[in-house]
Amino acid sequence: MVDWLVVIFLAMLLLWHLMLRQRMQKKTRILSDALTELRQAKQVSDHALARLQKLASRVPGMVYQFLLRPDGSACFPFASEAIRDIYRVSPQQVQDDATCIFALIHPQDLNNVRLSIQDSARQLTPWQCEYRVKFEDGTVLWLFGNALPEKCHDGATLWHGFITDITERRQVDVALQTSLKEKVALLNEVHHRVKNNLQVITSLLRLEAKRSGQPDTKATLTDMQGRIRAMALLHESLYRSGVFASVDLASYLKQLATQAFRAQSSGAVRLQLALASVQVSLDQATPCGLLVNELISNCLKHAFSADQGGDIHIDLHALASPDGNAPQWCLRVSDTGVGLPADFEARRSHSLGLHLVTDLAHQLGGTLTIGAVPGSGSGASFAVSFSVANLP
Ligand SMILES: Nc1ncnc2c1ncn2[C@@H]1O[C@H](COP(=O)(O)OP(=O)(O)OP(=O)(O)O)[C@@H](O)[C@H]1O
Ligand SMILES: [Mg+2]
Repeated sequence: MVDWLVVIFLAMLLLWHLMLRQRMQKKTRILSDALTELRQAKQVSDHALARLQKLASRVPGMVYQFLLRPDGSACFPFASEAIRDIYRVSPQQVQDDATCIFALIHPQDLNNVRLSIQDSARQLTPWQCEYRVKFEDGTVLWLFGNALPEKCHDGATLWHGFITDITERRQVDVALQTSLKEKVALLNEVHHRVKNNLQVITSLLRLEAKRSGQPDTKATLTDMQGRIRAMALLHESLYRSGVFASVDLASYLKQLATQAFRAQSSGAVRLQLALASVQVSLDQATPCGLLVNELISNCLKHAFSADQGGDIHIDLHALASPDGNAPQWCLRVSDTGVGLPADFEARRSHSLGLHLVTDLAHQLGGTLTIGAVPGSGSGASFAVSFSVANLP
């Protein structure tokens, strides 16, 4: 009986041992499968990282991820090898803590960099910043950073982007700015000198006019002074504004008309200006100025008798121009005086003033219309319509 019990016990022990071994084998197989999977996954991830580093190494500058944690601390979970050139640190040095990077940022730019990062994190807008880093040996680099932020589950913000070294471009910019400033100063000087020289000529003409006993010569010399003053004023406007490519025709004509009117009017006549602002080149401003000068002096000479009052109108306005064509403008000088004489055509063929006006209208590429003031039928009106040439 006892023998049987021993046999049964041994048989059960054997069975239990076999079952245990089978279970162990199964567990070992699962464990080994999991290990293989883990190894494969690591291989894939290592492979992807290597590929990322390889790609990043082909991009100019450094490719990175920047993490700003809710407690304000920051790090670079990923940084391409180029971080060694940009910040002179290794990717591993900044993997958990970015403090050393912020220590490199130029003190004058640090606040701006911090604010731009905070703004980008708050509004989830792309971070773009140009700033300097300063190394211990005194080297300063200009950097440009560009990254897109995303919010993480734990409240942190993660940016993906790149940083490039723009020192060379900045240096070229500075050199260009300096050269531009020099050229502007030079042009300013040229216009100033031209204006001064024209003023000297005006003074010489005034002295000659004073000296001359001939009324005709006196009048011619005085007219010449007015014309040269008109050109001097243009150069003065240019160097005062500091812009040489164009001039605001309205403000130039306003100054010129006021000056020419003051120099010649006797008092009873009024000057009325309605000038719309338009930028024109020096090539168009000069004929416009001479034209207005000539026509104002004509109004004051011929339109009003000694004791008669009246108005001189100078009007500059845009005309409706067909689509696609250059804008058309009209410059009109008119008066409420006696009107053109019956022998106007004969007179104008012997005089200089309106010859000059016709030539100047040509120079502007415009059309000159002469007649009574439209609408009223009285007085005299001289209008030039022209298209404003494209500015350089
Ligand atoms: N606003 C005006 N009102 C009336 N007549 C005018 C007006 N402008 C010009 N005229 C007439 O047209 C003529 C020609 O003008 P123009 O300017 O060519 O010659 P000018 O003024 O007589 O001499 P200058 O050659 O010195 O200018 C004038 O003599 C004058 O009779
Ligand atoms: Mg005249």
